[in-house]
Amino acid sequence: GESVVIANLAGFTPEESAELAVRAEKSGADMIMLPTHCPHMGEILSAMFPGMENHEPKLTDLSPMKQAVKLIKAAVNIPVVVKLSGSFSNIVKEWAIGVKEAGADGIACSDAFGPALAIDTNTGQPKLGGPRGVGGLTGPAIMPITLRMVLEIAMTIDLPIIGVGGVTTADDVVQYIMAGATLVGVCTAGHIKGVKQYSKIISDLEKYLNRKNLDSFNSIRGLTVKRIEERKANKQAAVTEPLVPDVRQELCISCYKCMDVCAYDAVEIIGGPGSGGKVKMIPDRCIGCGLCVSVCPTDALEQVYYS
Ligand SMILES: Cc1cc2nc3c(=O)[nH]c(=O)nc-3n(C[C@H](O)[C@H](O)[C@H](O)COP(=O)(O)O)c2cc1C
Ligand code: SF4
Ligand code: SF4
Repeated sequence: GESVVIANLAGFTPEESAELAVRAEKSGADMIMLPTHCPHMGEILSAMFPGMENHEPKLTDLSPMKQAVKLIKAAVNIPVVVKLSGSFSNIVKEWAIGVKEAGADGIACSDAFGPALAIDTNTGQPKLGGPRGVGGLTGPAIMPITLRMVLEIAMTIDLPIIGVGGVTTADDVVQYIMAGATLVGVCTAGHIKGVKQYSKIISDLEKYLNRKNLDSFNSIRGLTVKRIEERKANKQAAVTEPLVPDVRQELCISCYKCMDVCAYDAVEIIGGPGSGGKVKMIPDRCIGCGLCVSVCPTDALEQVYYS
């Protein structure tokens, strides 16, 4: 298919961002993406310009972003998308509203989290090479948080959303779409697994559509937003008794994972590993923590909170 080029750029000032956007548009960019905060930018700048003073921005000050969007929108004719970072995890609604007020055409979420640290245990050196040895955290570890941020944005404003953060599989892409994303981005998976991972995700997405008998993702976009609205409307009663998992014996492969993780000896398996034996929950012992459900590889265990 035809490629779309999104130019991701930011200057030191809103005026400089607008100048860069004009140059990007002239060079053929189809869209401008304005990153708002990089959690390890201080580290990058002090690595590039030793001795440079690091002015960490105030995360609650939306005015530089708003000013940059205003100037870029006035200077170019292509859509302008504002990209949030993991630093806004707790104030994502305020930023979403601010991005909408600024007049952006879309919002992307999110950039990296951090600053993050990893240590080489042979030398004690930070694994990264900057002055403090810190960097940005991306990849699968951040997806549960970025996904929740995307859902919050979808529940707050009505701009198109680019969901990005930790996508490795087609299932991850579908989760972002269900959270309300219009487009989904992938970065780290291609670095770690090689660029062929991008085409693998796309072909697995086609398989998903076929399996679900769907022509496109439109009917499932924002499905989780609807599900949460339903939960609110149903006013579900609080769970006061331990919710003992239900067992679907026909799906169980007797892998013993549920028994291994249960700290309350509340799971019994009759027969040896792989025997096709039966799993039995012991309700008197079960505290309903759900760990066994989380580790079951075949969805043979289920805790039904909402029907
Ligand atoms: C090496 C590297 C460089 C990146 N550079 C930028 C950048 O210049 N601008 C930006 O907005 N995001 C940048 N990102 C963030 C990614 O675009 C993406 O938002 C983030 O990595 C989360 O997605 P992922 O888990 O699929 O990687 C970079 C990420 C990595 C790993
Ligand atoms: S829900 Fe928790 S306590 Fe109950 S069987 Fe599963 S792991 Fe054990
Ligand atoms: S984890 Fe799932 S598949 Fe494995 S024994 Fe338990 S119920 Fe069966």
